[in-house]
Amino acid sequence: MRYGFFDDDHREYVITTPHTPYPWINYLGNEQFFSLISHQSGGYSFYRDAKMRRLTRYRYNNVPTDAGGRYFYIAEDGDFWTPSYLPVKRDLDTYEARHGLGYTLITGARGGITAETLFFVPLGETAEIQKVTLTNTGDRRRELTLFSFVEFCLWNAQDDSTNFQHNYSTGEVEIEGSAIYHKTEYRERRDHYAVYAVNAPIAGFDTDRETFLGLYNGFGEPDVVAAGASTNSVASGWHPIGSHSLTVVLEPGESTDYVFVLGYVEVPKDQKWSAPGVVNKAPAEELLARFATTEQVDLALERLQEYWSGLLGSFALSSPDDKLDRMVNIWNPYQCMVTFNMSRSASYFESGIGRGMGFRDSNQDLLGFVHLIPERARERIVDIASTQFADGSAYHQYQPLTKRGNNEIGSGFNDDPLWLILGVAGYIKETGDYSILDEPVPFDNDPATAVPLFEHLTRSYRFTLDNLGPHGLPLIGRADWNDCLNLNCFSEEPGESFQTTSNREGRTAESVFIAGMFAFIVPEYAALAEHRGLAEEAAQARAAVEAMKQTVLRDGWDGDWFLRAYDFFGDKVGSSENVDGQIFIEPQGFCVMGGIGVENGEAVKALDAVEERLDTPHGIVLLNPAYADYHLELGEVSSYPPGYKENAGIFCHNNPWITIAETVVGRGDRAFEYWKKIAPAYREEISEIHRLEPYVYAQTIAGKDAVRHGEAKNSWLTGTAAWNFVAVSQYLLGIRPGYDGLIIDPCIGPQIPEFTVLRTFRGADYTITVRNGGGKGATVTVDGVRLEGNVVPIAPPGASVRVDVVV
Ligand code: GLC
Ligand code: GLC
Repeated sequence: MRYGFFDDDHREYVITTPHTPYPWINYLGNEQFFSLISHQSGGYSFYRDAKMRRLTRYRYNNVPTDAGGRYFYIAEDGDFWTPSYLPVKRDLDTYEARHGLGYTLITGARGGITAETLFFVPLGETAEIQKVTLTNTGDRRRELTLFSFVEFCLWNAQDDSTNFQHNYSTGEVEIEGSAIYHKTEYRERRDHYAVYAVNAPIAGFDTDRETFLGLYNGFGEPDVVAAGASTNSVASGWHPIGSHSLTVVLEPGESTDYVFVLGYVEVPKDQKWSAPGVVNKAPAEELLARFATTEQVDLALERLQEYWSGLLGSFALSSPDDKLDRMVNIWNPYQCMVTFNMSRSASYFESGIGRGMGFRDSNQDLLGFVHLIPERARERIVDIASTQFADGSAYHQYQPLTKRGNNEIGSGFNDDPLWLILGVAGYIKETGDYSILDEPVPFDNDPATAVPLFEHLTRSYRFTLDNLGPHGLPLIGRADWNDCLNLNCFSEEPGESFQTTSNREGRTAESVFIAGMFAFIVPEYAALAEHRGLAEEAAQARAAVEAMKQTVLRDGWDGDWFLRAYDFFGDKVGSSENVDGQIFIEPQGFCVMGGIGVENGEAVKALDAVEERLDTPHGIVLLNPAYADYHLELGEVSSYPPGYKENAGIFCHNNPWITIAETVVGRGDRAFEYWKKIAPAYREEISEIHRLEPYVYAQTIAGKDAVRHGEAKNSWLTGTAAWNFVAVSQYLLGIRPGYDGLIIDPCIGPQIPEFTVLRTFRGADYTITVRNGGGKGATVTVDGVRLEGNVVPIAPPGASVRVDVVV
């Protein structure tokens, strides 16, 4: 069942009923100011950091769900409603929510009045614009009152929801004209405030939540709206809000619009006040002047749309499959950008007050957006690498505001260092910018220790070799990619963190997955070393890869698939000898991606085992059989009930590794089938089962052992976005940036007999037309000249190159 449709021409998903199975959200903002917005206009806004600079409140895990947002109430003669359906929930004659790239347009109509509410964050601004258009579609004159509403957060979102003895006494506002200023804590150390204003004279305002709503009322039944008139309440302590009321008179057929601005404003510390106790409003007034008219707003929206067109134009697919096109051209790259912006900080599942940026997550995320914004990818790489330790290990997370490693989590996740090589290699292949390798980058943010970035990669590579276990496989440490396989933890204390408790000296537990990573990633290191003239180092690294492959085939092969690990006691994990958890997905993907067993049939065998034991109609589960009980020696993986999360859930992040692995062994049809199973656009028809947005990936889908098999959780911020973009663009469609050119290697099976991709690569435009027989192995012609091999040489910037491909 569907709850809307894709409007590809406008790059929108159009939701046609408020009654979706979960709030379906969108992200507004690209740089500094961000808003989350649901299809019922729930959500919140923040400046840069969702914890430290939260502008508006949102209540997670609340009853009812999706409580708190920016709301517009329309009142007339004691009757009132909201065009977003929530929070008033009065039936609407029509309802529609359009989530587009960086904007959301929600339209509701009732009793002859249509209300369109448009939300977006203009480029370069620290504000959310809300344009409300009211139209009288009936045949009589109407006199309405329009009420706005936002609830301010007292800046630190965590403190705001815990420190009530303090917070109930700090709220302060100022009102001037049609502008409401939230100046809580401005009297002391803050040099910023929020402003909420409208570009028209107001009939009244309210800034005290209790006065506006009534103590025992929800957002759907505000006293003030029911009464039809603002009270001009001035918040003092308690809960400051911003609400305006406007009198709107509409003749039949008449339409009018208003521009509301919710802005974040910083003031130089020495100019905070214009008079004692009166905030300096000059910078706010400048902001409001930029959005005083409808024309200004429309222009800003146009610029935003041009920005997105430009960005997404760098990889454009046209194929006979609409779903494939819309994933590749619109929604997958859009999700990659949002994930880049947010890391894992703020979604409807991540409350914005939790973890910082992950070392491994950020490196993988890079792969999904590096072709869109290479300069920001470069900066991100330097930030990440600056938190690495001198021995090559890494802080598992760092804080976005300070860019420093996070001591509470610390280090010891032994896959982390290798991801840095993958991220840097991805950046250089896309851009050709080898100069990044010479960039001085410190260890643990200590400037005195700075060395060229290349040295960081050397240490990442050596770290793995310096930390091998009894079988010569990499030691796992606290965990590898699978945060929940905690082999040195042994936790018996409820609530204790599985990731940060390592209470055994772990020099035994080994990861076959990291060995697979080594095989896939270290050849990149060798290539970079070679480019720097370090032939000896390159040769050694390649020899180390060969040795690692042999080690895996000797001690990491279970007979029909790759083992997952050896535990603390040296016992096998992910083996047919185990009762539960006999086979895991991760090593099957990465070992094959690394080329292990491709020559002698182990790779195909492993992938056949994946199909037989892990595949389901909703995607590939992480392991099988699910752990029925808690295993002290395995940690968090066995803590989840069967079928959820790492315990045999479909963890979407690793499904594309199998897609890629299938292309490595040349089975494009299977690869494409796997890719489609979790791709949201292909799951749109089963939205009642999937439940989350049909336009973005979720972190997990409940596995076959779960009661709720097929149900997705944690949409938006997940490494799934980047890896699926890599899988579809570089392996299925097979257009892959290389050091010396664009590699053409499609492998998508017979279902897509032809397709064309416009790809911008190092400043030149390539038009790549593929006639696809369904197998693997491309014959490539460049501007009419048949190429030896399949690497299209790098053309000068500005050039247009025609590439004809026959598979
Ligand atoms: C989460 C983490 C990621 C980890 C994955 C599997 O997505 O952010 O780092 O690899 O879980 O445990
Ligand atoms: C990762 C895992 C999650 C686990 C968490 C612990 O995000 O996906 O299951 O609870 O790490 O930090």
